[in-house]
Amino acid sequence: MNPTKTTPDDIRGMKQSGKKIAALTAYDFPMTKLLDQVGIPFILVGDSLGMVVLGFPDTTHVTMADMEHHVRAAARAKPKSLLVADLPFRSYETVPSAVENAKRLLAAGADAVKAEGGHAIIEQVRAIRVAGIPFCGHLGMLPQHVLEEGGYRIKGKKEPEHQALLADADALVTAGAFAVVLELITPPVAKEISGRIPIPTIGIGAGPDCDGQILVTPDLLGMLPWFSLKHVMPKLNAAEQMRAVIQEWIDDVTAARAK
Ligand code: KIV
Repeated sequence: MNPTKTTPDDIRGMKQSGKKIAALTAYDFPMTKLLDQVGIPFILVGDSLGMVVLGFPDTTHVTMADMEHHVRAAARAKPKSLLVADLPFRSYETVPSAVENAKRLLAAGADAVKAEGGHAIIEQVRAIRVAGIPFCGHLGMLPQHVLEEGGYRIKGKKEPEHQALLADADALVTAGAFAVVLELITPPVAKEISGRIPIPTIGIGAGPDCDGQILVTPDLLGMLPWFSLKHVMPKLNAAEQMRAVIQEWIDDVTAARAK
């Protein structure tokens, strides 16, 4: 094994040493290579794949076959970063299917898997860990539940929801998760969870007090100008820049300047 490969223990250790974790998504070989070269320690082949690459309206359309295809592409970059893959919608409804599908993502090249939920999937998480597969949790807004919830809503404002989030975070720790993504959780609750549990919290739209932050890379780079998200301020206008370069090349071709 590559001695410099980032492990789940390394990610956990970053919390202990007070080092913030910068995590991003990748769905293919070039982006995985680039993020790895820049030194991102945690790369997620997220099921956001459905929206940002495959053109679906939400993540519920993503299949195991889609995830395996994109995990294989990302893994060909042989990143030093920990490569985490999402178990897609309905791929972990039962304990046997959760273990079987987690094994398939590892066989495709992932180092760890992530799935959405706390108590509701805790038997699946335990079984995945018993199978020796590193597991990352995901609490708060759960995109795979967007249809039943009727939208993307901030979690933790109401007291029962706040208490449920604390209990879910504790349950994931006990079940053996090495980290947990906190999505669209009210910042004081995300801060409370981060102070309470020994594993790193990686926030997305959950305020500054998580142990790390994760973004969907095309959102960070401004590649999808047709989506606008409150929690992301693009650092680049990649779509505009690509359009300009392509237009310039079209002009060169039509004016017979291109070789
Ligand atoms: O699928 C994804 O990209 C994710 C991030 C939003 C954390 O789960």
